[in-house]
Amino acid sequence: MTTAQHKIGSGFGATSTAAEVLAGIDLTGKLAIVTGGYSGIGLETTRALTRAGAHVVVPARRRATAEEALRGFENVEIDELDLGNLDSVRAFAGRFLASGRGIDIFIGSAGIMASPETRVGPGWEAQFATNHLGHFALVNRLWPAFTPGARVVSVSSRGHHYGPVRFDDLEFRQGYDKWLAYGQAKTANVLFAVQLDKLAREHGVRAFALHPGRILTELVRHLDRQELVDAGMVDEAGQVTGGAKTPEQGAATQVWAATSPQLDGLGGVYLEDCEIAEPAPADGGRTGVKDYAIDPVLAERLWTVSAELTGVDAF
Ligand SMILES: NC(=O)c1ccc[n+]([C@@H]2O[C@H](COP(=O)([O-])OP(=O)(O)OC[C@H]3O[C@@H](n4cnc5c(N)ncnc54)[C@H](OP(=O)(O)O)[C@@H]3O)[C@@H](O)[C@H]2O)c1
Repeated sequence: MTTAQHKIGSGFGATSTAAEVLAGIDLTGKLAIVTGGYSGIGLETTRALTRAGAHVVVPARRRATAEEALRGFENVEIDELDLGNLDSVRAFAGRFLASGRGIDIFIGSAGIMASPETRVGPGWEAQFATNHLGHFALVNRLWPAFTPGARVVSVSSRGHHYGPVRFDDLEFRQGYDKWLAYGQAKTANVLFAVQLDKLAREHGVRAFALHPGRILTELVRHLDRQELVDAGMVDEAGQVTGGAKTPEQGAATQVWAATSPQLDGLGGVYLEDCEIAEPAPADGGRTGVKDYAIDPVLAERLWTVSAELTGVDAF
């Protein structure tokens, strides 16, 4: 398979910060929606985008928490959204569309990881539902508001290496594994960007997926200390281990994806460390993008299944 997954020499890297990739970029007059934009790397994304002049809408599952986290931010608007609840997705999208405004940047940074088996909506597995289906329904419902030149950024993870989308058991009815479920959801985030880019390109809208790096945030809320050690997040003393990024560095790749002129004319690719990622090496290792995450046939199949499940398809 030929692939666009090759470095372009961005000049940025793993230690670049969101502010650094935005240097010289003026986002005055631009509107961004950032799910999860009040915690972890989403919070730093909101900070960087607003400082560059953008107006940022942050739809929050916990409004009071968002108000506290974003206190003092200028150009931020908080609304309510639970990605695990399609009624909530429809309601937020309806409120936004009724405002008559256009969307220049959409960043799906909200997510959960390795949660205990949880069912939402009509019995959907919560990681797939929250991380993928909720964002799928939201972007499709918001589609009429996207402006030509807009970008959609799907925050995936190196966790997509844990496994592909399991089309024969999407909901883990045959035994739940919290890491395989995270892997499936994060693979779905990449496939979503691949198919969205194919469909949206002719309208001037491009989509990207990415791994932000390893950053110690609230994302690990479902892991105990030993699991954090085993995952290489902290050492036995509870200290963040080497190689971890700060939240400002962790936000950089999604901000770069959303704004960089270096990506003009590109889309449907997976990024890491403010670069287009290379294909994952066949002999293992945890870098790059897996074939099954960028396969256009699987991307189209996931789109069809997601549209059937959510009842939404803007195309
Ligand atoms: N941190 C890392 O090392 C790392 C590595 C690879 C990929 N990622 C990806 O990066 C993204 C952001 O992670 P993070 O580290 O910034 O995590 P975080 O600090 O836990 O932030 C996640 C955000 O998602 C929101 N969220 C969770 N469930 C939601 C729902 N049902 N509806 C609406 N919002 C919901 C959370 O809101 P509440 O707090 O109100 O629940 C929170 O604002 C995730 O997609 C994650 O998979 C992170």
